[in-house]
Amino acid sequence: MGEKSKILIIGGTGYIGKHIVEASAKAGNPTFALVRESTLSDPSKAQLIHNFEALGVNLVRGDLYDHEKLVKAIKQVDVVISTLGHLQLADQLKIIAAIKEAGNVKRFFPSEFGNDVDRVHAVEPAKSALAIKAQIRRSIEAEGIPYTYVSSNYFAGYFLPTLAQPGAFAPPPPKDKVIILGDGNPKAIFNKEEDIGTYTIRAVDDPRTLNKILYLRPPKNIYSFNELVALWENKIGKTLEKIYVPEEKVLKDIEGLYKYP
Ligand SMILES: NC(=O)c1ccc[n+]([C@@H]2O[C@H](COP(=O)([O-])OP(=O)(O)OC[C@H]3O[C@@H](n4cnc5c(N)ncnc54)[C@H](OP(=O)(O)O)[C@@H]3O)[C@@H](O)[C@H]2O)c1
Repeated sequence: MGEKSKILIIGGTGYIGKHIVEASAKAGNPTFALVRESTLSDPSKAQLIHNFEALGVNLVRGDLYDHEKLVKAIKQVDVVISTLGHLQLADQLKIIAAIKEAGNVKRFFPSEFGNDVDRVHAVEPAKSALAIKAQIRRSIEAEGIPYTYVSSNYFAGYFLPTLAQPGAFAPPPPKDKVIILGDGNPKAIFNKEEDIGTYTIRAVDDPRTLNKILYLRPPKNIYSFNELVALWENKIGKTLEKIYVPEEKVLKDIEGLYKYP
Protein backbone atom coordinates (compact mmCIF):
# COMPACT_ATOMS: atom_id res chain seq x y z
CA MET A 1 0.00 0.00 0.00
CA GLY A 2 1.24 3.44 -0.91
CA GLU A 3 0.45 6.62 0.95
CA LYS A 4 -3.18 7.35 1.66
CA SER A 5 -4.81 9.77 -0.73
CA LYS A 6 -5.37 13.33 0.30
CA ILE A 7 -9.10 13.99 0.20
CA LEU A 8 -11.03 17.25 -0.22
CA ILE A 9 -14.71 17.17 0.72
CA ILE A 10 -16.89 19.93 -0.71
CA GLY A 11 -20.10 20.13 1.35
CA GLY A 12 -18.48 18.47 4.36
CA THR A 13 -20.59 20.41 6.86
CA GLY A 14 -23.79 18.99 5.39
CA TYR A 15 -25.93 16.04 6.46
CA ILE A 16 -24.01 13.23 4.77
CA GLY A 17 -20.81 15.24 4.23
CA LYS A 18 -19.91 15.31 7.92
CA HIS A 19 -19.90 11.50 8.05
CA ILE A 20 -17.58 11.37 5.06
CA VAL A 21 -15.23 13.94 6.56
CA GLU A 22 -15.14 11.97 9.81
CA ALA A 23 -14.60 8.65 8.06
CA SER A 24 -11.78 10.13 6.00
CA ALA A 25 -9.98 11.60 9.00
CA LYS A 26 -10.48 8.44 11.09
CA ALA A 27 -9.12 6.29 8.25
CA GLY A 28 -5.93 8.34 8.35
CA ASN A 29 -6.36 10.10 5.01
CA PRO A 30 -5.11 13.68 5.05
CA THR A 31 -8.54 15.33 5.04
CA PHE A 32 -9.51 18.76 3.78
CA ALA A 33 -12.97 20.32 4.03
CA LEU A 34 -13.92 23.31 1.89
CA VAL A 35 -15.90 25.55 4.21
CA ARG A 36 -17.48 28.90 3.56
CA GLU A 37 -16.57 31.88 5.82
CA SER A 38 -20.24 32.24 6.73
CA THR A 39 -20.30 28.64 7.95
CA LEU A 40 -17.21 29.11 10.10
CA SER A 41 -18.99 31.92 11.97
CA ASP A 42 -22.35 30.11 12.15
CA PRO A 43 -23.03 29.21 15.82
CA SER A 44 -25.12 26.21 14.78
CA LYS A 45 -22.07 24.73 13.03
CA ALA A 46 -19.56 25.53 15.81
CA GLN A 47 -19.64 22.07 17.41
CA LEU A 48 -19.20 20.37 14.04
CA ILE A 49 -16.26 22.59 13.14
CA HIS A 50 -14.76 21.89 16.56
CA ASN A 51 -15.12 18.13 15.95
CA PHE A 52 -13.41 18.48 12.58
CA GLU A 53 -10.52 20.36 14.16
CA ALA A 54 -10.22 17.72 16.89
CA LEU A 55 -9.98 15.06 14.17
CA GLY A 56 -7.18 16.98 12.46
CA VAL A 57 -9.27 18.03 9.46
CA ASN A 58 -7.77 20.90 7.46
CA LEU A 59 -10.44 23.57 7.07
CA VAL A 60 -10.01 25.28 3.73
CA ARG A 61 -11.86 28.56 3.35
CA GLY A 62 -13.61 28.71 0.03
CA ASP A 63 -16.83 28.56 -1.90
CA LEU A 64 -18.17 26.60 -4.82
CA TYR A 65 -18.64 29.95 -6.55
CA ASP A 66 -15.07 31.19 -5.93
CA HIS A 67 -13.20 29.53 -8.79
CA GLU A 68 -9.72 30.66 -7.78
CA LYS A 69 -10.01 29.34 -4.22
CA LEU A 70 -11.63 26.16 -5.48
CA VAL A 71 -8.75 25.42 -7.84
CA LYS A 72 -6.25 26.21 -5.08
CA ALA A 73 -8.02 23.82 -2.69
CA ILE A 74 -8.18 21.06 -5.30
CA LYS A 75 -4.48 21.41 -6.12
CA GLN A 76 -3.64 20.35 -2.54
CA VAL A 77 -5.33 16.93 -2.81
CA ASP A 78 -5.59 13.72 -4.83
CA VAL A 79 -9.31 13.02 -4.53
CA VAL A 80 -12.34 15.31 -4.48
CA ILE A 81 -15.65 14.24 -2.93
CA SER A 82 -18.70 16.45 -3.38
CA THR A 83 -21.55 16.15 -0.92
CA LEU A 84 -23.30 19.33 -2.01
CA GLY A 85 -27.05 19.47 -1.45
CA HIS A 86 -29.78 19.54 -4.08
CA LEU A 87 -29.64 23.29 -4.76
CA GLN A 88 -25.98 23.05 -5.83
CA LEU A 89 -26.12 19.78 -7.78
CA ALA A 90 -26.14 21.43 -11.23
CA ASP A 91 -23.36 23.82 -10.21
CA GLN A 92 -21.01 20.88 -9.70
CA LEU A 93 -20.00 21.82 -13.25
CA LYS A 94 -17.88 24.40 -11.45
CA ILE A 95 -16.04 21.61 -9.63
CA ILE A 96 -15.52 19.78 -12.91
CA ALA A 97 -14.04 22.95 -14.45
CA ALA A 98 -11.79 23.47 -11.43
CA ILE A 99 -10.61 19.84 -11.50
CA LYS A 100 -9.74 20.22 -15.19
CA GLU A 101 -7.78 23.38 -14.49
CA ALA A 102 -5.99 21.91 -11.47
CA GLY A 103 -5.03 18.84 -13.48
CA ASN A 104 -3.93 16.67 -10.54
CA VAL A 105 -7.07 14.86 -9.38
CA LYS A 106 -6.95 11.05 -9.35
CA ARG A 107 -10.62 10.62 -8.68
CA PHE A 108 -13.84 12.61 -8.30
CA PHE A 109 -16.90 11.47 -6.35
CA PRO A 110 -19.81 13.73 -7.36
CA SER A 111 -22.74 14.29 -5.00
CA GLU A 112 -24.81 11.16 -5.55
CA PHE A 113 -25.41 9.07 -2.42
CA GLY A 114 -28.83 7.78 -3.43
CA ASN A 115 -30.25 5.67 -6.25
CA ASP A 116 -28.34 4.74 -9.37
CA VAL A 117 -29.58 7.68 -11.40
CA ASP A 118 -29.08 5.97 -14.75
CA ARG A 119 -31.31 3.07 -13.74
CA VAL A 120 -34.17 4.58 -11.80
CA HIS A 121 -37.65 5.76 -12.82
CA ALA A 122 -38.96 8.47 -10.54
CA VAL A 123 -41.72 11.06 -10.48
CA GLU A 124 -41.21 14.73 -9.65
CA PRO A 125 -39.66 16.25 -7.64
CA ALA A 126 -37.11 13.43 -7.49
CA LYS A 127 -37.10 12.99 -11.28
CA SER A 128 -35.47 16.38 -11.98
CA ALA A 129 -32.90 15.98 -9.20
CA LEU A 130 -31.90 12.58 -10.52
CA ALA A 131 -31.71 13.95 -14.07
CA ILE A 132 -29.26 16.62 -12.90
CA LYS A 133 -27.09 13.96 -11.25
CA ALA A 134 -27.13 11.98 -14.51
CA GLN A 135 -26.07 15.10 -16.45
CA ILE A 136 -23.18 15.61 -14.06
CA ARG A 137 -22.11 12.00 -14.67
CA ARG A 138 -22.08 12.65 -18.43
CA SER A 139 -19.99 15.82 -17.97
CA ILE A 140 -17.43 13.99 -15.81
CA GLU A 141 -17.14 11.20 -18.38
CA ALA A 142 -16.91 13.68 -21.30
CA GLU A 143 -14.04 15.47 -19.55
CA GLY A 144 -12.23 12.18 -18.91
CA ILE A 145 -12.10 12.71 -15.14
CA PRO A 146 -11.63 9.44 -13.20
CA TYR A 147 -14.67 8.88 -10.99
CA THR A 148 -16.60 6.73 -8.56
CA TYR A 149 -20.38 7.12 -8.20
CA VAL A 150 -21.59 6.04 -4.77
CA SER A 151 -25.10 4.61 -4.86
CA SER A 152 -25.76 4.47 -1.15
CA ASN A 153 -29.53 4.01 -1.31
CA TYR A 154 -31.57 5.44 1.59
CA PHE A 155 -30.02 7.23 4.53
CA ALA A 156 -31.30 5.22 7.51
CA GLY A 157 -31.29 8.24 9.80
CA TYR A 158 -33.44 10.21 7.39
CA PHE A 159 -36.30 7.74 7.20
CA LEU A 160 -36.30 5.23 10.02
CA PRO A 161 -36.52 7.45 13.14
CA THR A 162 -40.01 8.56 12.04
CA LEU A 163 -40.88 5.49 9.95
CA ALA A 164 -41.10 8.02 7.09
CA GLN A 165 -44.47 9.28 8.29
CA PRO A 166 -45.72 12.25 6.25
CA GLY A 167 -44.98 15.52 8.03
CA ALA A 168 -43.00 13.89 10.85
CA PHE A 169 -39.51 15.29 11.26
CA ALA A 170 -38.45 13.87 14.61
CA PRO A 171 -38.62 10.57 16.44
CA PRO A 172 -40.29 8.60 17.91
CA PRO A 173 -41.98 6.56 15.19
CA PRO A 174 -45.77 6.28 15.49
CA LYS A 175 -47.16 4.26 18.38
CA ASP A 176 -50.86 4.07 17.43
CA LYS A 177 -51.35 4.17 13.69
CA VAL A 178 -49.04 4.16 10.71
CA ILE A 179 -49.53 5.45 7.17
CA ILE A 180 -48.24 3.06 4.52
CA LEU A 181 -47.86 4.35 0.98
CA GLY A 182 -48.88 1.78 -1.64
CA ASP A 183 -49.15 -1.83 -0.49
CA GLY A 184 -45.94 -1.61 1.58
CA ASN A 185 -44.31 -4.55 -0.18
CA PRO A 186 -41.54 -3.07 -2.39
CA LYS A 187 -38.13 -3.48 -0.79
CA ALA A 188 -35.70 -0.65 -0.16
CA ILE A 189 -32.13 -0.48 1.15
CA PHE A 190 -31.36 1.56 4.25
CA ASN A 191 -27.76 2.36 5.16
CA LYS A 192 -26.41 3.97 8.28
CA GLU A 193 -24.79 7.30 7.53
CA GLU A 194 -21.56 6.29 9.31
CA ASP A 195 -21.35 3.21 7.10
CA ILE A 196 -21.87 5.31 3.97
CA GLY A 197 -18.93 7.43 5.11
CA THR A 198 -16.75 4.38 5.76
CA TYR A 199 -17.50 2.64 2.46
CA THR A 200 -17.05 5.86 0.48
CA ILE A 201 -13.60 6.39 1.96
CA ARG A 202 -12.65 2.73 1.44
CA ALA A 203 -13.47 3.17 -2.25
CA VAL A 204 -11.07 6.09 -2.64
CA ASP A 205 -7.90 4.02 -3.09
CA ASP A 206 -9.55 0.82 -4.32
CA PRO A 207 -8.81 0.17 -8.01
CA ARG A 208 -11.98 -1.96 -8.27
CA THR A 209 -14.12 1.15 -7.86
CA LEU A 210 -12.30 3.28 -10.43
CA ASN A 211 -14.74 4.54 -13.09
CA LYS A 212 -17.45 2.40 -11.55
CA ILE A 213 -20.66 2.74 -9.59
CA LEU A 214 -20.26 1.56 -6.01
CA TYR A 215 -23.52 0.01 -4.82
CA LEU A 216 -24.01 -0.17 -1.06
CA ARG A 217 -26.47 -3.03 -0.63
CA PRO A 218 -25.78 -5.00 2.56
CA PRO A 219 -28.24 -7.93 2.33
CA LYS A 220 -29.41 -7.44 5.92
CA ASN A 221 -30.30 -3.78 5.27
CA ILE A 222 -33.05 -4.57 2.75
CA TYR A 223 -36.62 -4.21 4.02
CA SER A 224 -40.12 -3.60 2.75
CA PHE A 225 -42.16 -1.00 4.60
CA ASN A 226 -44.40 -3.74 5.95
CA GLU A 227 -41.35 -5.52 7.34
CA LEU A 228 -40.13 -2.32 9.00
CA VAL A 229 -43.52 -1.79 10.61
CA ALA A 230 -43.51 -5.39 11.85
CA LEU A 231 -40.04 -4.87 13.37
CA TRP A 232 -41.24 -1.73 15.13
CA GLU A 233 -44.41 -3.43 16.37
CA ASN A 234 -42.28 -6.24 17.74
CA LYS A 235 -40.04 -3.74 19.52
CA ILE A 236 -42.87 -1.81 21.21
CA GLY A 237 -44.99 -4.94 21.77
CA LYS A 238 -48.04 -3.42 20.12
CA THR A 239 -49.98 -3.82 16.89
CA LEU A 240 -50.47 -0.54 15.03
CA GLU A 241 -53.51 0.52 13.03
CA LYS A 242 -52.41 0.51 9.39
CA ILE A 243 -53.70 3.04 6.93
CA TYR A 244 -52.79 2.07 3.38
CA VAL A 245 -52.78 4.83 0.75
CA PRO A 246 -53.16 3.33 -2.74
CA GLU A 247 -50.30 4.04 -5.13
CA GLU A 248 -52.59 5.91 -7.58
CA LYS A 249 -53.64 8.29 -4.80
CA VAL A 250 -50.02 8.89 -3.73
CA LEU A 251 -49.06 9.73 -7.32
CA LYS A 252 -52.05 12.03 -7.73
CA ASP A 253 -51.30 13.83 -4.46
CA ILE A 254 -47.71 14.42 -5.52
CA GLU A 255 -48.63 15.58 -9.01
CA GLY A 256 -48.44 19.33 -9.45
CA LEU A 257 -47.46 19.89 -5.82
CA TYR A 258 -43.76 20.08 -6.47
CA LYS A 259 -41.62 21.78 -9.02
CA TYR A 260 -37.91 21.16 -8.64
CA PRO A 261 -36.23 23.14 -7.16
N1 LIG B 1 -30.14 8.61 -0.08
C1 LIG B 1 -30.78 9.42 0.71
O1 LIG B 1 -31.63 9.01 1.52
C2 LIG B 1 -30.49 10.91 0.64
C3 LIG B 1 -31.14 11.80 1.51
C4 LIG B 1 -30.79 13.15 1.44
C5 LIG B 1 -29.83 13.59 0.53
N2 LIG B 1 -29.23 12.69 -0.31
C6 LIG B 1 -28.19 13.12 -1.27
O2 LIG B 1 -26.99 13.38 -0.54
C7 LIG B 1 -26.25 14.44 -1.17
C8 LIG B 1 -25.93 15.51 -0.11
O3 LIG B 1 -27.14 16.00 0.42
P1 LIG B 1 -27.25 16.54 1.92
O4 LIG B 1 -28.70 16.55 2.27
O5 LIG B 1 -26.28 15.83 2.78
O6 LIG B 1 -26.75 18.05 1.71
P2 LIG B 1 -26.85 19.28 2.74
O7 LIG B 1 -27.08 18.78 4.14
O8 LIG B 1 -27.82 20.27 2.19
O9 LIG B 1 -25.37 19.88 2.70
C9 LIG B 1 -24.94 20.66 1.64
C10 LIG B 1 -23.52 21.07 1.90
O10 LIG B 1 -23.10 21.93 0.83
C11 LIG B 1 -22.52 23.10 1.40
N3 LIG B 1 -22.66 24.23 0.48
C12 LIG B 1 -23.80 24.82 0.06
N4 LIG B 1 -23.51 25.83 -0.77
C13 LIG B 1 -22.16 25.85 -0.90
C14 LIG B 1 -21.25 26.69 -1.60
N5 LIG B 1 -21.68 27.71 -2.36
N6 LIG B 1 -19.92 26.44 -1.51
C15 LIG B 1 -19.47 25.41 -0.73
N7 LIG B 1 -20.28 24.60 -0.02
C16 LIG B 1 -21.61 24.84 -0.10
C17 LIG B 1 -23.27 23.30 2.70
O11 LIG B 1 -22.55 24.14 3.52
P3 LIG B 1 -23.20 24.81 4.85
O12 LIG B 1 -22.99 23.80 5.94
O13 LIG B 1 -22.42 26.01 5.00
O14 LIG B 1 -24.65 25.06 4.55
C18 LIG B 1 -23.30 21.87 3.19
O15 LIG B 1 -22.07 21.52 3.74
C19 LIG B 1 -27.13 14.95 -2.31
O16 LIG B 1 -26.70 14.40 -3.53
C20 LIG B 1 -28.52 14.43 -1.96
O17 LIG B 1 -29.34 14.20 -3.09
C21 LIG B 1 -29.53 11.36 -0.26
